[in-house]
Amino acid sequence: MLKYRFPEGFLWGTATASHQIEGDNFYNDWWEFEQKGKVKNGQISGKACDSWNRYEEDFDLIEKLNNNAYRFSIEWSRVEPEEGRFDQSAIERYRAMLLSLRRRNIEPFVTLHHFTNPLWIAKKGGWLNSEIIDYYLRYVERIVSEFKDLVNYWMTINEPNAYAFMAYLYGQFPPQKRSLMKMLRVLNNMVKAHAKAYQVIHKISPNSKVGIAYNVIYFEPKNPKSFIDRKLTNFADRIYNRVFIETLTTGRFSSPFIKEEIPYAKDTLDYLGVNYYTRILMGLRMTPPSGEKSDFGWEIYPEGIYKVVKRFYKLTGKPIYITENGISDAKDEKRPKYLISHLIQLHKAIEDGVDIKGYFHWSLVDNFEWAEGFLQRFGLFETDFNNFERKWRKSARIYSEIAKNNGITEEMEKEFLK
Ligand code: BGC
Repeated sequence: MLKYRFPEGFLWGTATASHQIEGDNFYNDWWEFEQKGKVKNGQISGKACDSWNRYEEDFDLIEKLNNNAYRFSIEWSRVEPEEGRFDQSAIERYRAMLLSLRRRNIEPFVTLHHFTNPLWIAKKGGWLNSEIIDYYLRYVERIVSEFKDLVNYWMTINEPNAYAFMAYLYGQFPPQKRSLMKMLRVLNNMVKAHAKAYQVIHKISPNSKVGIAYNVIYFEPKNPKSFIDRKLTNFADRIYNRVFIETLTTGRFSSPFIKEEIPYAKDTLDYLGVNYYTRILMGLRMTPPSGEKSDFGWEIYPEGIYKVVKRFYKLTGKPIYITENGISDAKDEKRPKYLISHLIQLHKAIEDGVDIKGYFHWSLVDNFEWAEGFLQRFGLFETDFNNFERKWRKSARIYSEIAKNNGITEEMEKEFLK
């Protein structure tokens, strides 16, 4: 018996990103970073999942999952490997992918920037240099003009906050800076790029929906009674969760060091993409979570997705798509419960009136997990990186059932949630 029924027309999908699955992305900053041995165990993305050549195989899997949507990204460095030189053959390959998805009745959700930058852009200072905005817009204009007949949903940038944090404050992603000021400057440039891209896309394709995929962490004080822990929580929440999104609703970028009126950024979201993974408890001494964790060490906290969507729906008033949610779990022991418990929390939010229109599980297949290389396994399908074979995990079968039924049965809840 179906216990948690999702709204009619709900979109069920998975999400991936170009550099993590395609392979041979020679012309971006990550490729260079990997060659310098910066990734765990000196790994390089190499052929990744070889999805550049095996995309039909991937789409077959998506069909077997009974999914009606798929989120993937276009690799700027493939399309424009050198400044101003667009590679038509790469554009044609993406067109073939989009056509294949359309033939299969799978709605494409296209991300225009997912962490990687063309090397020539990185050499000019990347997102610290405000000139990137115009370069980015030229690329966006080209892509949207090429694919406007095939794409209804665009995401301008994937997780500007996670990107700015990892690359400019935490220093784990290229160019490995460690400066709050730089992180905020990058966020500021990204907000402008998003807002201008929103206008550009609508000019070319007025009926398409333009959003962003935004990483939201549920922060809480480690000790709610501690003043310092509460202050730290508030600070993390402000710079990570709020500054960027608030600019899109108010037209005002209000961060600790940079405050700026950006009126054209106001109301530049048709929908909000939420990427939710975990909760972080903030305290002076950060300790690993005590409860259930993923292989990555991230706490499993399903209630967080409920709290986060309720809050961001109130904040933006825009329809929400969960554009990422998933777990690193090589043995697939925790994923079934993770998947079902997060979906039940989402269902609860929908019942409360939050307009949630779709869910994309991260990820379709195990792939190149950035600074962790191939260590962290997020796939519904296991990838054998020796021969690129994709193998069913139990979670893939469960997800396929859920999508087919457009909901979760009582039996499923009983079996996996206890
Ligand atoms: C990113 C993905 C990444 C995932 C798991 C998200 O922050 O968008 O590219 O693989 O998290 O770490």
